[in-house]
Amino acid sequence: MGALSVDELVGRDEWDSVVRQHRRPFVVYKFAATLDGRIAAEDGTSQWITSAESRAEVHLLRAGCDATVVGSGTQQADNPNLTVRGNDDPRLDLAIVHNPDRQPLRVVIDSNAKTPADANVCNDAAPTLVVVAEGADASHLNGVVDVLKVKRADRGLDLPAVLTGLHARGVRAVFLEGGPTLAGSFIAQGLVDRVVNYVAPALLGSGKSGLGDAGIRSMSGILRLELVDVARSGADVRLVARTVRSR
Ligand SMILES: NC(=O)c1ccc[n+]([C@@H]2O[C@H](COP(=O)([O-])OP(=O)(O)OC[C@H]3O[C@@H](n4cnc5c(N)ncnc54)[C@H](OP(=O)(O)O)[C@@H]3O)[C@@H](O)[C@H]2O)c1
Repeated sequence: MGALSVDELVGRDEWDSVVRQHRRPFVVYKFAATLDGRIAAEDGTSQWITSAESRAEVHLLRAGCDATVVGSGTQQADNPNLTVRGNDDPRLDLAIVHNPDRQPLRVVIDSNAKTPADANVCNDAAPTLVVVAEGADASHLNGVVDVLKVKRADRGLDLPAVLTGLHARGVRAVFLEGGPTLAGSFIAQGLVDRVVNYVAPALLGSGKSGLGDAGIRSMSGILRLELVDVARSGADVRLVARTVRSR
């Protein structure tokens, strides 16, 4: 890892003010992309774009937040575990790795409760919350994982309501791991506080880009971020940027 600590990478010193001011968790959006900004190949595969070092570092950052969040598209495409897993980095707290009660909460944003009960995210390696729409049939998840029902929005679920539900569960910081559709909605609603982007020196030329529709139609709406740090991460480059809000 470059010179920044995990706490600095996940912006811990800014958590309190966001939680107090907005009554929602701080949101860190992390994504791994090629030089041409792709986060998956045209066939949907995305494992692995970045180097082993970058992927190991992601486990440190997950461990540095209270919840890891993905959209249903990522759950279906990748069937991720979303746990903090062991690697060679001596800074990784193995007490978190080996204790499901200390793992960050795994969260799937899944309007129609499509997450199967045998998905990896439903294993007993960490607690899990599947957020579904009011009225969705999530009975197959009863006794398997925790389920939160929130209202629908124009696109998917009402994200402020999702974050309110996480805040009520004591979540102070969310590690948003995509995919681009869900991240686009978070950005469109001003719900991302920090971006951590691993860029691999690789090209794909087609496939999904790092961010889906964020409601920005013209250069006048471009969301400029303040660069916090640039560092090498194994064979990749890691950029950290923060959202600047007018006060
Ligand atoms: N390289 C990387 O860093 C990285 C990281 C993650 C994923 N990926 C790749 O990204 C791809 C999946 O991304 P994706 O964009 O298809 O899926 P996604 O962003 O993971 O999930 C999108 C889905 O989330 C649900 N959702 C619920 N509320 C939403 C809201 N308010 N706004 C937006 N979506 C909401 C919707 O499905 P419902 O209506 O069914 O709820 C929506 O279709 C895969 O290829 C995966 O490998 C890459």
